[in-house]
Amino acid sequence: MTKFFKKCNNYYRLGEPTLAKKTGIYPYFHLISGEQNTIVQMDDNEVIMMGSNNYLGMTTHPKIKQAAKEAIDQYGAGSTGSRLLNGTMELHVELEERLARFIGKEDCVVFSTGMQTNLGGISSLLSEKDEWIISDQQNHASIIDGIKLGKNNKENKCIYNHNDTEDLKRYLKEIPKGKALIVTDGVFSMEGDIAKLDEIVELAEDYNAGIYVDDAHSVGVLGDYGKGTANHFNLTDKVDITMGTFSKSFATIGGFIAASKQICNWIRHKARAFVFSASPPPASCATVIAILDLIEKDDSYRQNLLAVAKRMKEGLVELGFDTGESTTPIIPLVVGGQNKTLRFFKKLFENKPRGIFTNPILQPATPKGRELIRTSYISTMTNEIVDEALDILEKVGKDMKLI
Ligand SMILES: Cc1ncc(COP(=O)(O)O)c(C=O)c1O
Repeated sequence: MTKFFKKCNNYYRLGEPTLAKKTGIYPYFHLISGEQNTIVQMDDNEVIMMGSNNYLGMTTHPKIKQAAKEAIDQYGAGSTGSRLLNGTMELHVELEERLARFIGKEDCVVFSTGMQTNLGGISSLLSEKDEWIISDQQNHASIIDGIKLGKNNKENKCIYNHNDTEDLKRYLKEIPKGKALIVTDGVFSMEGDIAKLDEIVELAEDYNAGIYVDDAHSVGVLGDYGKGTANHFNLTDKVDITMGTFSKSFATIGGFIAASKQICNWIRHKARAFVFSASPPPASCATVIAILDLIEKDDSYRQNLLAVAKRMKEGLVELGFDTGESTTPIIPLVVGGQNKTLRFFKKLFENKPRGIFTNPILQPATPKGRELIRTSYISTMTNEIVDEALDILEKVGKDMKLI
């Protein structure tokens, strides 16, 4: 191997993942066999799935699987090209129209992943040196990277303290009116708390700023029929851009931006992650359309999800876990300390006869000292499963003196 790759050799020998494997606390790449349901076979463990983003349980819904299969039969396996060239099919156009209507915007642009949506959407909007972006400290990595790619001056890329609208105001006061875009997750991905969108909208009006909301964890979950955070606050017309992903409630892969005709036209022609990447495959588009068919008429999937999350949250609080500020189906169990969090994860995962799969969240995804176990829920979970999970959490939590 050339000297260039020496860093890879060293990391392979002595990097954190290797050391964690040696001490038996490496938590990643567990192997799922079989269907992704509320109970899953992972490695040699049967586990309750409390670490997926399959909020509405749609990954295994018979109608959804059927729609994906039919799209493959009709259009083929993939698009093999950019939307601008050979990659626009009837399904892409239909999906964009459906999503625009669902979110309550004029137009919509569909991307191949949620990550690309933020990379392309945000960076394309930051096209002048004298533009500002003001981003919540806890925003998703795809937002952070989208901002890095923007052409505005480095010192105009600002981060305000998490959900702290006073801090946001401090920045807005210093920026010429009409030059700033505020970007926030609707539901924060690690701790499940909701952005203070009502206060953000007020500030944006006072200082003539634009608003971009990442609704990856809100679509299907918040608002009437799962229309997202802006709908939840009754502020759809005040939010300029709603971004969403297909990798969570929509059970497949892809992402979208819903906004005005003018903004979508800009993004269609200027977002490099859209222009220079193949469009989502037909099966993904058909999956999302079929899910919209279901949830636009029937709110019960979402209502069940909210009931599961409520039962779980109440149980966890009663047991004495620190569940932060969550009011959504993402519930953190704040542990503090990397090793302790990894040990907690492992004990939950390996519990017998059945364990729990969760996601350990470490720095930089969470601030130092706030390492946590992220739990998230599925609409199809029964009360029996929730109660079984609470029993396991009580046993392991007490064992580790977390409660
Ligand atoms: C808030 C948020 N935005 C964007 C993304 C990226 O979406 P995807 O995984 O669909 O690429 C995620 C994924 O976890 C997310 O949590």
